Amino acid sequence: MMQPILITGVSGQLAVALGEGAPGHGLSVRQYDRLALDFDRPASIVAAFAETAPWLVINAAAYTAVDAAEDDADDAFRANRDGPAQLARLCEDAGIPLIHISTDYVFDGLKGAPYVEDDPTSPQGVYGASKLAGERAVLERCSRAIVLRTSWVYSPVGRNFVRTMLNVVQRTDRLRVVADQKGCPTSAPDLGAAILSMAARIAADGWQDRWAGLYHAAGTGWTTWHGLAVATFEAAARYGARVPTVDPIETAEWPTRAKRPPDSRLDCARLEATFGLRLPPWQNGLARTIDAVLADEAALAP
Ligand SMILES: NC(=O)c1ccc[n+]([C@@H]2O[C@H](COP(=O)([O-])OP(=O)(O)OC[C@H]3O[C@@H](n4cnc5c(N)ncnc54)[C@H](OP(=O)(O)O)[C@@H]3O)[C@@H](O)[C@H]2O)c1
Repeated sequence: MMQPILITGVSGQLAVALGEGAPGHGLSVRQYDRLALDFDRPASIVAAFAETAPWLVINAAAYTAVDAAEDDADDAFRANRDGPAQLARLCEDAGIPLIHISTDYVFDGLKGAPYVEDDPTSPQGVYGASKLAGERAVLERCSRAIVLRTSWVYSPVGRNFVRTMLNVVQRTDRLRVVADQKGCPTSAPDLGAAILSMAARIAADGWQDRWAGLYHAAGTGWTTWHGLAVATFEAAARYGARVPTVDPIETAEWPTRAKRPPDSRLDCARLEATFGLRLPPWQNGLARTIDAVLADEAALAP
C-alpha cells in the first residue's frame, strides 16, 4: 500500500481543506498538528517525517499573523523559513516532492497589473519577508519542490476576512472597509482541491522534473476588500442575514501594524499551462463558503 502524504497543520484553513478533500482524490494523508510537528522544535519535524515515511509532503502550516509578525520576527522566520527549509532538506534526502505555500505579500503591490512569478519581489513587512525567505530556502534545498503563492485565503473555518464580516454584521448596520487594495480572494477548499489534483497526478504519472518551481495559485478574478465585503453580505442575504451599509475607505484611514501591498493580484497562467489547473472564480468559492458557514449556523439554531 502506498505510504501517506505528510501534511503539516490540522486546524489551519488550508490544512482542513486538504484533510477533507483527500479521500475524494483517492489520497491517504497523515496530518500533524503543532503538538506533534512544531517548526519551533526541529526534532519534531524529523520525528514526524520518520514516522510517516511519506511519498509527498504538503506544507500547509505557517506563521500567518501579518501584523503580529512585525513584533515577532524570530517566530515568523522560524515557522516560515527555517521549518520549511528543514522539510525541504528531508524531502531532498528522501528523493520525494514537497508542495509548499507562499504568499502575494512577497510583492510591494506597485506594479499596477497582476504579478507573474518572475516579477521582482519586495515584501513590505516581516510576514512577507519571512515567506519570501521560506520559498527561496525550499527551492534551493529541494529539487522536487513546487511553491504555490496564493492570496486572500478564506474558508468556512479559521480566522479570515469573510468570517469576520459575517460576525460583524450581527453587531452593526454600517461599517467601513478599505477599497483601495486589490487582490485575488482564494477559497481554501478550491486551493486544496488544486493541490490534491497535483498530488494525484504525481501519484499517477510519477514526478516530472519540469514541474519543480514557483507558481501563482489564487482564485480567478479580483476585487478589493470592500468588494469582498459587499459580495459576502449579498451572498449571506440569501440566508436572511441583514445587509449593512459598507462605506469605502482608503488604506490611510485604516492603519495597521504591517503595511499591505495595494495591488497584489496574481497572474496564474503558469499553473494552468503546466498543470491544466485554474482555480474557480472567487465568487464561486465565496458562495460555497457562505453556504457552509450559514447552513451550519442554521443547523445549530433552536
Ligand atoms: N490566510 C491568508 O490569507 C493567506 C494568504 C496568502 C498565503 N497564505 C499562505 O497559505 C498557507 C495556509 O494558510 P492558512 O490561511 O491555512 O493558515 P492558518 O489558517 O493561519 O493556519 C496555519 C497553520 O499553521 C500551523 N502553525 C503555525 N505556526 C506553526 C509552527 N511554528 N509549527 C507548526 N505549525 C504551525 C497552525 O497550527 P496551530 O493552529 O496549532 O497553531 C495552523 O494549523 C500558509 O503558507 C500561508 O502563509 C495565506
